Amino acid sequence: ATTTDGETADVLVVGSGIAGCAAALAAARDGAEVLLLTKATKPADASTDWAQGGISTTRGNPASLKEDIVDASDGTADPAAVDALVENADDAVEDVLVDTLEVGFDEADGGDFDYTREAAHSEYRILHVDAATGTHILRPFLNYIDNHERIEVRQDTAALELITAEGRVHGVVSDEGPGGHPIFAGATVLATGGIGALYGRSTNPADATGDGIAMAALAGADVEDMEFVQFHPTAYAGDDPFLLSEALRGEGAVLRNGDGEQFMDDYHPQGDLAPRDVVARAVETEREETGEVVLDVSPLEFESEYPAIAEKCRDRGIEGDEIPVAPCEHFLCGGIDVDERGRTSLDRLYAVGECARTGVHGANRLASTSLLEGLVWGLQAGDDATGFDPEPVEAPELRNRDPDLPERFAAEKFTRLTQTMDEYLGLERDPDEIARASSVLRRLKGEVDAYIRTRTARDLYELRNASVVALLIARAASENTESTGCHYVLEAETAGGVDRTSF
Ligand code: SIN
Repeated sequence: ATTTDGETADVLVVGSGIAGCAAALAAARDGAEVLLLTKATKPADASTDWAQGGISTTRGNPASLKEDIVDASDGTADPAAVDALVENADDAVEDVLVDTLEVGFDEADGGDFDYTREAAHSEYRILHVDAATGTHILRPFLNYIDNHERIEVRQDTAALELITAEGRVHGVVSDEGPGGHPIFAGATVLATGGIGALYGRSTNPADATGDGIAMAALAGADVEDMEFVQFHPTAYAGDDPFLLSEALRGEGAVLRNGDGEQFMDDYHPQGDLAPRDVVARAVETEREETGEVVLDVSPLEFESEYPAIAEKCRDRGIEGDEIPVAPCEHFLCGGIDVDERGRTSLDRLYAVGECARTGVHGANRLASTSLLEGLVWGLQAGDDATGFDPEPVEAPELRNRDPDLPERFAAEKFTRLTQTMDEYLGLERDPDEIARASSVLRRLKGEVDAYIRTRTARDLYELRNASVVALLIARAASENTESTGCHYVLEAETAGGVDRTSF
C-alpha cells in the first residue's frame, strides 16, 4: 500500500551529531524550513558527544594537514576531497564553533588556543576541551539549532525507509504511528553516524546501527570503501570499554607490553604516534605474545589534564598509571559515496558525517578529522540542499500486523551478527573467514526480512540495517584482496609498496 498523505519540510535531516546539526544550520541560514529527526532521546546518544581528542584545524598550513591525512591513509585518500576539507577547515571552525557557538576551547598561557597533537599529526593543530571535546561542541550546537526559528528538532524518532520515485529521493517514512509516517522533503540529508553496534566492542553509542547507509543502499545509492572499518588502538581492555584518546600519546603517554617494554619503535618509525591501523595491529600482536598491553600515562598530569578520562578509569576501579588497553571498533572510513557537496548518486539525497564516504579518509582515518569532516560537509550539504520544493509522491505504507514475533528475536539475531563480525571481519581478515561471514549474514538477513514485511518495530529495522551494512562490509572485504590501511588480509601482500608494518 502507498499514500501521498504526510507532512512536508524543505530540508529533512536525519541524525543529530555535528554533521546533522551543521547541515540543519546551513539550510536554515539559507532560509529553508528544516526538520531534523533523531533516534536519540538525549543528546549524549550521538557519537559526536563521545568524541574526545578534539577537532583538527590547519593552523594556517593546509598543505601540512593534507600531507598527514594522505600519509595516514596509506596514500589512498582522494586528493580533491582532502583539498575540500583543508581549504574549508579553519573558516568553518571559526564561523560555527568559535563565533556562533562560542565553544570554550582550552587556551594556553597568553590567550592563544592550547593546540594539541595526536598520532600521525606532524604539528600541534588540534583544538580541544579537556579530552571531552565532542560534548562541549554538540550540546551548545543542539541547543542553538533547537532554538532556531526555522529548525524543528524531533527526538526519539527513527527514519525507517527512504521515499523514492524515479531515482529521486522525496523524504523518509518515520516510525511515528503504527504504519509509519511519511515526511516529504525538497531534499533529504542523511547524518546517521557509524556502525559500532555491529561489533561486540566499540567506542560508539549502542544505537550506531548504520541506518542511513542501509536505507541509502537499499534505495540504490552507491556505497564505497566499506571494508575500511577503523579500530582504535587504545580502548580500555576490560568490560564496558571506553576510549583512551590518542591525545594522551600525543602528549607523552606510551604503550608497554606485558614485559613492561615499550614496543612501538619495533613496528614503525613514528613509534607510539604511528598511524592508527599500524598501532592497533601492533597492540593486538603484543597482547597475544606477552599477555597484555598497557597505556602508561605517568609522563602526563593525567588527573588534572584529562579529568573526564580519569573519572572513567576510577569508575572501572583502575588504579595507578597503567591502563590495560585493546583495539576496539571506532569509525567506518567508507559509507555512502558523496561528492564535495555531500551529494549522493541519488537525486536530492545527501549524506554527511560518518555515514558518508567523502574520500578524505581513504583506507585509514587520521585522528581528529571526523568532527571536522562532519562540520565541513554538513555545512556544504545543508547549503546545497536548499531551494527544492517537497513533492508528495506515493510513499510506502508500512504494515504492522502481528507476525507472531518470537520474544527476544531482535536481540538474539543481533548477538549472532556481532559475534560474526568480531570473529571474521575484525582487525585481521582471512578470505575463507570472510566467505563464512557472508553466508551467516545472508541467512540472518533472510530471517530478518521475513519479519520486516510485517512490522515497523524500531529494533527490527535497526537489525535489518545492521545486517545490510554487515553484508556490505563482507562483500567489500571479499572483493579487496590487498592489505591496505585498516583492511588487513592475512596471507596477502601489503599494497602500494608502502611497508606499513614490520610484521
Ligand atoms: C581520540 O581521541 O583518540 C579519537 C579521535 C578521533 O578518532 O579522531
